[in-house]
Amino acid sequence: MNIRNFSIVAHVDHGKSTLADRFLEITGTVTGDKMKPQLLDSLALERERGITIKLAPVRLKYKYKKPVILSEAKNIYPSATPQDDNNEEYILNLIDTPGHVDFSYEVSRALAAVEGAILLVDAVQGIQAQTLSHGLAALEQNLTLIPVINKIDLPSANIEKAKKELTDTFGFIEDEVLLVSGKTGEGVEEILKAVIERIPPPNRHSELRPKDDQPLADVSESQTNKILNQGSPDLIGVQDDVNGTPLRALIFDSFFDSYKGVVAAVRIVDGEVPKVGSEIEFLGTKATGQVLEKGYFGPQLIPTDSLEAGEIGYIATGIKTPDLVRVGDTIITTVHLGGGEKVALSLYLRGVPGEIEPLPGYKEVKPMVYVGLYPIDQDEYHEIKDALEKFRLSDPAFTYELEHSNALGAGFRCGFLGLLHAEVVQERLSGEFNADLIATAPSVEYMLGSELIHNPADLPQGEGLKDLKEPWVKLEIFVPQQYIGGVMDLVQEKRGAFKNMQHFGAQVQLSYEMPLSEMITDFYDKLKSVSSGFASLDWEFREFREVDAVRVDVLVGGEKVDALSVVIVRGRAEYVGRRLVEKLKEVLPRQNFEVAIQATIGGKIIARETLSSFRKDVTAKLYGGDVTRKNKLLEKQKKGKKKMKMIGRVEIPQEAFLSILKS
Ligand code: GTP
Repeated sequence: MNIRNFSIVAHVDHGKSTLADRFLEITGTVTGDKMKPQLLDSLALERERGITIKLAPVRLKYKYKKPVILSEAKNIYPSATPQDDNNEEYILNLIDTPGHVDFSYEVSRALAAVEGAILLVDAVQGIQAQTLSHGLAALEQNLTLIPVINKIDLPSANIEKAKKELTDTFGFIEDEVLLVSGKTGEGVEEILKAVIERIPPPNRHSELRPKDDQPLADVSESQTNKILNQGSPDLIGVQDDVNGTPLRALIFDSFFDSYKGVVAAVRIVDGEVPKVGSEIEFLGTKATGQVLEKGYFGPQLIPTDSLEAGEIGYIATGIKTPDLVRVGDTIITTVHLGGGEKVALSLYLRGVPGEIEPLPGYKEVKPMVYVGLYPIDQDEYHEIKDALEKFRLSDPAFTYELEHSNALGAGFRCGFLGLLHAEVVQERLSGEFNADLIATAPSVEYMLGSELIHNPADLPQGEGLKDLKEPWVKLEIFVPQQYIGGVMDLVQEKRGAFKNMQHFGAQVQLSYEMPLSEMITDFYDKLKSVSSGFASLDWEFREFREVDAVRVDVLVGGEKVDALSVVIVRGRAEYVGRRLVEKLKEVLPRQNFEVAIQATIGGKIIARETLSSFRKDVTAKLYGGDVTRKNKLLEKQKKGKKKMKMIGRVEIPQEAFLSILKS
């Protein structure tokens, strides 16, 4: 079997999913009326928003004839390598990835499962922030990169400029760069050929294979024979082992299926997935499961009889506890030795228990933005807790812990990689799990002494917070030269510190360090506005640094709403407090009594607004006693209020929490 595993990486909107559509068509993977634009973006939200949120694997089959003679000039890479058999059919496993910086974790997981990547660049935009970060990440993992300039059909395409940026930045030679249009299909087939010619086939023969002269310590000869000779009912699964090489499969994604349990998307690194019914073990969580089904992504799940080293596919595990199957974990086979004794086959064959190496997983991601999510109806708390647990399977970058708010009741403090991530997760929870939630304003994690605090309300109140530290990030902004001035002013206003400037053709990369709390307000919108939409950014956590800040609290109708507390740099606290009460006055619905809205610091009132009373009677305009109509209207009004929470005698709507971001 000839296999190539590859991914497509690019900056957001440079055309990955559209290019993947053309691959699906050319290879006949999806045909006729089953084809729709950006097919691999299968989540409802991805289609609605036109962005890729999750990685998506798919297996393509392509007939490729080895060229007999390659001209010296074009022969940059050896053609299909000697490991390939003479069969012309190639299995190309593609993993499409998201482009936005908040979903970089999805990209890193995809890259760990492949040998090469297409680096796609929009011919109009040229290299942007995520082109650079994903491209460098792929090189760091020793992947082969195929540079491709996309959207060459556009009249404003500047191919020469994009080519120069690619060669200058990554050191490609010009002949390597392919020119395509994902929209018209021009040049797309050349990419498939380049994938076969340039990307190395997966290593399908493991070093783990027991050598002939390696003694199988502690294992009797008869037991070894029992293992290697097929057919023992105790040793189910062993017979599927490729040449005695034990299974090691890397989980790069997973999701929950109510019949099949957790389904793990895997890259088989060694061995072969055993027969349906065999037991498997998870090295990290020590959980055991069963192979209920194995197969590949077509892109839907297609069962197969065999899934071997080098392939990408899935294993339905039957496990119903989502937490036991972790992305990054290694799946191995287990065998029963009789008498209830069970051992990982890999250990057994080598006779050196404990020595089996888990595959290098992924680095744990650190959530950067925290939001409190509260069930609007407290009766749904347990259902929502279940939903969060299952959701985490398909989004391992999402974290949650239980928390209690005096104002909002029992809820969850959730960690996200960025603002878009937070927004997308809330929408998915509501769309896919029917979870009716109210969200507090996003905030960052603070460090008080040595304690990490995820909720501003948990910080002590008072004039100053001693020993308080906030997260700083390393920020890279890519922008055409003419906008440098506007960007510099903006970052300075946000307490950013300039570090470096580097030219990439007509673009400039500005490096800064900046407090994360400043980035999660309106920074991105302002950056787009000062650069006429051209700036793109990439960031990563750097370190915690001291900050002189205070906690601003909000009282509504005399009652403290802990979920509205916010940490502000001391110099701006009074100003922000004033703006916050003004904004809240705009969004809080009037009651039939007067409501005071106050901001306080350490119990001292720093700002106050009064919401005058108003009785909104939506049925006033109806007359003639039509009770059904009246009831319908009241029902509608009740529904409209759903995203509200009663706090004391006042209803607080979702928008109230967003006022914090706008203050
Ligand atoms: P994210 O995954 O959200 O980062 O986007 P993407 O990189 O998958 O881009 P997508 O395929 O969604 O394309 C973005 C936009 O560019 C869509 O409006 C496409 O129709 C358009 N587009 C993609 N390829 C081409 C092309 O070759 N020519 C032209 N003219 N438009 C294209």
